[in-house]
Amino acid sequence: MRTAVVLLVLLGCCLTGVQLQNEERESKQLTTQPDIWAELNKLRDMVVEQRVELAVTKSELGAAKLELGATKTELGATKTEMAEVKRQNEALRDMVMEQRVELADMEARLQTSESQVAELQTENKERPKVAFSAALTDAGHVGPFNTDTTLNYAKVFTNIGNHYNPTTGIFTAPVKGVYYFRFTDFVRSSGHGGVYLHKNGQIIMIGGYWRAEGPENYTSNAVVLQLEVGDHIYARLHSNHQVYDDNLNRSTFSGFLLFPM
Ligand SMILES: *[C@@H]1O[C@H](CO)[C@@H](O)[C@H](O)[C@H]1NC(C)=O
Ligand SMILES: *[C@@H]1O[C@H](CO)[C@@H](O)[C@H](O)[C@H]1NC(C)=O
Repeated sequence: MRTAVVLLVLLGCCLTGVQLQNEERESKQLTTQPDIWAELNKLRDMVVEQRVELAVTKSELGAAKLELGATKTELGATKTEMAEVKRQNEALRDMVMEQRVELADMEARLQTSESQVAELQTENKERPKVAFSAALTDAGHVGPFNTDTTLNYAKVFTNIGNHYNPTTGIFTAPVKGVYYFRFTDFVRSSGHGGVYLHKNGQIIMIGGYWRAEGPENYTSNAVVLQLEVGDHIYARLHSNHQVYDDNLNRSTFSGFLLFPM
């Protein structure tokens, strides 16, 4: 009996011990469990927060990417514009260069023209001006004489340069050149008209007729001559011929320099 009691007591003790142990364990579990949950909650919260942050960052990144894209596009457009501006600048520069060359050419030509004008002005200034024209006399008949006689055209219309001498009737060439001379002589009444143009004592041409009868009482002739400086030109009345002049200036002698040589 005693043994049974002891056994019962021991069993009771054992059961109590196990129960105590279980209780202890349970109480331990009760004290540690809330911490884990809190931690988990914290962690979850953190994860959620970071997710949100990540989403924000992602969207920011997206925006930044978009901006970058826009900026890139703008940059591209700017680059194209710059290239166009550069091209235009180069074209302008080329034009300016061309115009500079043209301008230089024109300046050179202008200078040449100016110096040519100056030369021409000098030439024109220095160019001898020679012209004369004179009528014979108011005295009526001249001649006939026994010998050939130089006609002295005394009524001067023009005598530029004074190279025609109205007291001798002789023109003296002042420069080497080409000259033009002409004379017209009138014969009144029945007479032999005959006037010769002379150069340095040699007959160049004649204007004349015999027995001036009818309406053809005028004679004239003209010539272009190349003369040396000092050459003499004059008209001579042939011996036994005659010429007539009065205040109507019927008989004249003229000449001028065409151009120097
Ligand atoms: C021309 O000569 C003729 C004859 O010599 C004369 O009758 C006539 O009047 C002259 N003519 C003139 C315009 O003098
Ligand atoms: C003839 O010439 C002189 C100049 O020498 C001039 O005075 C006169 O008027 C002229 N006569 C005529 C009719 O033209």
